[in-house]
Amino acid sequence: GLPVLQDGFARTISYLRLSITDRCDLRCTYCMPERMTFLPKSDVLSFEELTRLVDAFIARGITKLRITGGEPLVRKDAIALLSRFASRLGGGGLKELTLTTNGTQLAQHAQALADMGMKRINVSLDSLDRNVFARLSRRDVLPQVLEGIEAAAKAGLKVKINTVALADANADEIPSMIAWAHGNGFDLSLIEVMPLGEEMTHRSSSFLSLQDVKKRLESQWTLTHLDDSTGGPARYMHVAETGGRVGFISPLSHNFCATCNRIRMTCTGRLYTCLGHEEGEDLRSALRDDPSDDTMNALLDRALAKKPERHDFDAAHIDTPSSPRTMSVTGG
Ligand code: GTP
Ligand code: 5AD
Ligand code: SF4
Repeated sequence: GLPVLQDGFARTISYLRLSITDRCDLRCTYCMPERMTFLPKSDVLSFEELTRLVDAFIARGITKLRITGGEPLVRKDAIALLSRFASRLGGGGLKELTLTTNGTQLAQHAQALADMGMKRINVSLDSLDRNVFARLSRRDVLPQVLEGIEAAAKAGLKVKINTVALADANADEIPSMIAWAHGNGFDLSLIEVMPLGEEMTHRSSSFLSLQDVKKRLESQWTLTHLDDSTGGPARYMHVAETGGRVGFISPLSHNFCATCNRIRMTCTGRLYTCLGHEEGEDLRSALRDDPSDDTMNALLDRALAKKPERHDFDAAHIDTPSSPRTMSVTGG
């Protein structure tokens, strides 16, 4: 077969994060403005193009595919598209197909996701307080999200909760969210807010270092390091009192780039080799101009050779974005 994808720092890339739409039904304040301008639909890759590109990545050793957005489940016929990717599980070369979702549409789709062979999903949830949730996401839909999570668990999907730790929103709620998640059998990963998208002066009042959060949790619980990794950036700890796991995704206070195994592609076919940098390649034009595998493979190698060593997010400059792209374009 073809050589696996490797970057200039001898890191092997086996994990593709694919954003299938930049659209979202929420407007999380740290992510996007209320009046967000989305890409014209004509710019978005068709099912055929997405499938071709995913196959090109699988041929180069991508074994883990995570579907993101925006909110992936708001794309028309998302389940049909995901089913195409699911047909690459097993003998098709993929070891894992998974999804990061805000949960608003999950109640309708959970069973279909489980049926196509998905084993686990990550659901973003920043508060269990309906008012805080509504203020943060600018949409009063916490009950739908909780219904979605319940449906996912019922369908047999392993659920992980992703919570952005925010000094001015959910700081005091973090222990009770962990207790709730663990009580329901879910892992919970905490995420440091990152400087992406437009300039936002409120990010500095939101930023919470997870090193500090961990200290606070340790005053109440017994945390021990775990060696298990899901192949993502989180470092996990076991909580003796709850029996569950807490993940720490700390791009600012603890850089994890040395072990990076991922790249991302936007819904327009732009390949970004790092969340915090602009280096990338336009795979869609390449596909349209010359659909031969050789051209595509040469382009992938060229992009990978330029993958930056690390992001340079800096807590001291949290209000000034490292990248003008919002997370909803790159998919986290
Ligand atoms: P698992 O497969 O469960 O390990 O998932 P994951 O943590 O890789 O994926 P998820 O979509 O849950 O990611 C959680 C968050 O981690 C993302 O939204 C990003 O904010 C952050 N993240 C993931 N990869 C990177 C990365 O390479 N760099 C940075 N800075 N953040 C990342
Ligand atoms: N910093 C950190 N996390 C973010 N997310 C979106 N924007 C940001 C940001 N600027 C999170 C979402 C979700 C995941 C996909 O990314 O809340 O959990
Ligand atoms: Fe939508 Fe996720 Fe951005 Fe919130 S963080 S607005 S759920 S894309």
